[in-house]
Amino acid sequence: MNESNPPFIDATALPHWTSSLPRADLDPAALGPDLGAPCFKGFWRASELNPTRALLMHQRIEEDAALEHEPLRACFSSATPPLPEPDASVVGAWAPRRSVRAFSDQAIELADLSALLWPMARRQDGGRGLASGGGKYPLQVHVIGWRVGSEGVVLPPSIQGYDSLSHGLTPIGAAPAWSRLKPILGVDMNEPAAVLVVTAQAGPHVTKYGERGGRFMLLEAGSWLGAWQAQTARMGLGGLVIGAFQDRALLRELGHHVSGRGQAPEDAASEHVIAAVYALGWPAP
Ligand SMILES: Cc1cc2nc3c(=O)[nH]c(=O)nc-3n(C[C@H](O)[C@H](O)[C@H](O)COP(=O)(O)O)c2cc1C
Repeated sequence: MNESNPPFIDATALPHWTSSLPRADLDPAALGPDLGAPCFKGFWRASELNPTRALLMHQRIEEDAALEHEPLRACFSSATPPLPEPDASVVGAWAPRRSVRAFSDQAIELADLSALLWPMARRQDGGRGLASGGGKYPLQVHVIGWRVGSEGVVLPPSIQGYDSLSHGLTPIGAAPAWSRLKPILGVDMNEPAAVLVVTAQAGPHVTKYGERGGRFMLLEAGSWLGAWQAQTARMGLGGLVIGAFQDRALLRELGHHVSGRGQAPEDAASEHVIAAVYALGWPAP
């Protein structure tokens, strides 16, 4: 075995919860065209949640909650002298940031969405607020809004697609009832004002970078979540990163334009997956 480049993990010998996944999902034949990155596709399929896997994951979360937890410490020293206190504006901007799971009835405004989505917009100079590997920009946002207002008038609940070129929203359909979406998102909370769903097409990244491109895609989704956490905190809104969503059920809720699975080899690059979910609204008092 080459120590610096060990063989990839054997998917038939995985322990515990991963071994409860249907083998069929890891069968290379079922993974479809791999764009030169078969392990990325295998990893993605193996980490998707469906109702059974979501149940298993919630059992694991409960088991984990029953354990004693010490936060990980820096691996070098616990006696590191602290840095100078940041500027008060920095401390103040981050102070309200926390996960919010109880929302008030107050609507957010289109102007609030505009501020949140601005880092994703292509500016007039061609740049964008957030970086993307190779300038590929493989991510998109869908806004599922239940309480979004325009100049004080609350709009009908809807799903809208964000267009980063025009910094605009395109109506796609009616929003599903929160009672229907809640179990798909795997959360237990009241209706937020809106949910931002980050969809991704891995094709551009994995075609160029192989498996490494899959990492780039997730790194970029994480940077979007970081931007939204910072911006909601600045605006006094509350938000929640959601990772427990059921992948394909949520894609279906967004509409056929993203949930129709590419069958032909050339469609593999355009298959949409869900990379991240962020719920937001005004926090309950
Ligand atoms: C990647 C990621 C996934 C998360 N998924 C969920 C989730 O599915 N449901 C949930 O209630 N909270 C979720 N959270 C929120 C965490 O539980 C929360 O950030 C953590 O408990 C720390 O609390 P704080 O955000 O208030 O500081 C997620 C956070 C991250 C970063």
